[in-house]
Amino acid sequence: MCGIVGYTGRDQAAPILLDGLSRLEYRGYDSAGLAVRDGSAPAEVVKALGKLYHLADKTDQGRALPGTCGIGHTRWATHGDPSMVNAHPHVSGNCSGSGSGPVESDVVGVHNGIIENFTELKEKLLRHGYTFYSDTDTEVAVKLVDYYYKKYKIGPVDAITRTMVRVRGSYALALMFRDYPDEIFVARKDSPLVIGTSEGASFLASDVPAILKFTRQVYYIGNLQVGRIRPGEVLFYDLNGDEVQLPLTEITWDTAAAEKDGYEHFMLKEIHEQPRAVRDTLNSLIRDGAVDLSATGLTDDILRGIRQIDIAACGSAWHVSVAAQYVIEDLAGVPVRVELASEYRYRRIPSSPDTLVIVISQSGETADSLAALRVAKERGALTLAVVNVIGSTIAREADHTLYTLAGPEIAVATTKAYSAQLIAMDALAVRLALVRGAITEEKSGELIAALQAIPDQISRVLEEKQRLQWFSSKIANTHDIFFIGRGLDYAISLEGSLKMKEISYIHSEAYAAGELKHGTISLIEQNTLVIGVLTQSSLFEKTLSNMLECKSRGAYLMGLTTNGNFSVEDSVNFTVYVPKTDEHFIASLAIVPLQLLGYYTSVNRGLDVDKPRNLAKSVTVE
Ligand code: AGP
Repeated sequence: MCGIVGYTGRDQAAPILLDGLSRLEYRGYDSAGLAVRDGSAPAEVVKALGKLYHLADKTDQGRALPGTCGIGHTRWATHGDPSMVNAHPHVSGNCSGSGSGPVESDVVGVHNGIIENFTELKEKLLRHGYTFYSDTDTEVAVKLVDYYYKKYKIGPVDAITRTMVRVRGSYALALMFRDYPDEIFVARKDSPLVIGTSEGASFLASDVPAILKFTRQVYYIGNLQVGRIRPGEVLFYDLNGDEVQLPLTEITWDTAAAEKDGYEHFMLKEIHEQPRAVRDTLNSLIRDGAVDLSATGLTDDILRGIRQIDIAACGSAWHVSVAAQYVIEDLAGVPVRVELASEYRYRRIPSSPDTLVIVISQSGETADSLAALRVAKERGALTLAVVNVIGSTIAREADHTLYTLAGPEIAVATTKAYSAQLIAMDALAVRLALVRGAITEEKSGELIAALQAIPDQISRVLEEKQRLQWFSSKIANTHDIFFIGRGLDYAISLEGSLKMKEISYIHSEAYAAGELKHGTISLIEQNTLVIGVLTQSSLFEKTLSNMLECKSRGAYLMGLTTNGNFSVEDSVNFTVYVPKTDEHFIASLAIVPLQLLGYYTSVNRGLDVDKPRNLAKSVTVE
């Protein structure tokens, strides 16, 4: 996820663009750049790595970039490592090594989103004589617009609509054309984009906070629409190039609320971003109806040669590992050992070149997980990092890397990154099973179809959030909560319990349901809350009986199960249902009500949901 801004009007653009980017930095912060033009002079591009202040300093707070029309970008890398040439803006011609300087070409642009078919489009452009200086999908998009602009000698709007017809993926694009000074052209599909106007000036941004200081009058451009932005005036077009009228909306939010897109907390916003995070991650791993791991470098031969998989991670990433263990072993028949990274590094686990050690980490900087990775490499194992931050230390040091595309996660309690990791591991399991002959092409297709339905099913679960909000008000003063389940339901319980305790500070434990009777059940007393996860049909009755053992000792029961299992209501006090899917993948759905329950319980207790006490987003110490 990245942030884009744009301005055209009577004032100097660069300071306005920098101010806007500063309010979007939560969307990404590995590099930033501006393109500003002064009248009919070519645009000047300046880029900087790292946080936005580097760019502000480099441009003397924008004063070194004269001009009243410009675009800007803050990056969360999805294609290509964080580097100067990969930083936006991108141009339709060549670009110097620093990425900065006057734009000699016709089109310069910034982009938030993912062009899924950028490889095939790049090959097309190469055949037509284009060359490329970066690894980004954005450069391909800008050059494709330029291609149509020149080939058909059409205006920017038509060149952009032709591009939109060829592109698959998501985008919020902002483009400047050398022949159209003072104008910015935008296009949108699935990525957020808002256009603002005031007297003699126009603005664009990925999110409202970036322009709220300058105007509260905004247009929400629709999907597959194009905008032509002039000072104080905006025209909109549909995919056919026909002009369309959009309503002007008055923004009533304050700036703080707007950065959360109207959600009260980043955590709630990120819970609701899960459909997109899962869809983007999955789409990056599916090509022509099959799981394609080629971007990781894990060839089918490597996957066939694996005899043992070890997974090392911490916290929620470890919970993903526990879930993945069940899925990989069941689908692919490969033995999987899961270990806390902080323990793995001290165990004398035998490794060999046919052992694949997977390290899962959202930040890619967790000290224990990095240490586990280094130990695995010392022992001669092949290593794969599953990380959310491109260019992070764990990503750079692993032999192979699989990136999740959840975008920056601000809340300390992970949600969308966890879900993106889950779906990535599910896709890996399907590929592993297929290449090892454990499943047929037909079964692989069925499993992939089930995975591709998950994002919409998550959206369906989110529609039931009021029930979780109500139930959280009943349990806000509970002292102990037990989450129990068997198999994958145990893995789901682990994450549900952590979500609850880390943000509501209520003591909570996750237990393998069959293990309760070996001691812990002595803790069950009147009104102790026991949440039973019941999504695995083969284990349903056994877990339900464990729940009833707790009920007979005074426990208050919540059941989490799949649609149709309404018999649960005869046994429990409160039931939550999620849609049915292939039971290997149900964790992606079942975790959502538990995330919401933890979130609303924390809110009910008046706590700092996004920044819980004692915690940090990335634990870079041992
Ligand atoms: C989970 O909500 C926590 N934020 C924490 O357990 C986290 O999952 C753990 O610290 C691992 O972080 P990583 O994924 O960045 O390595």
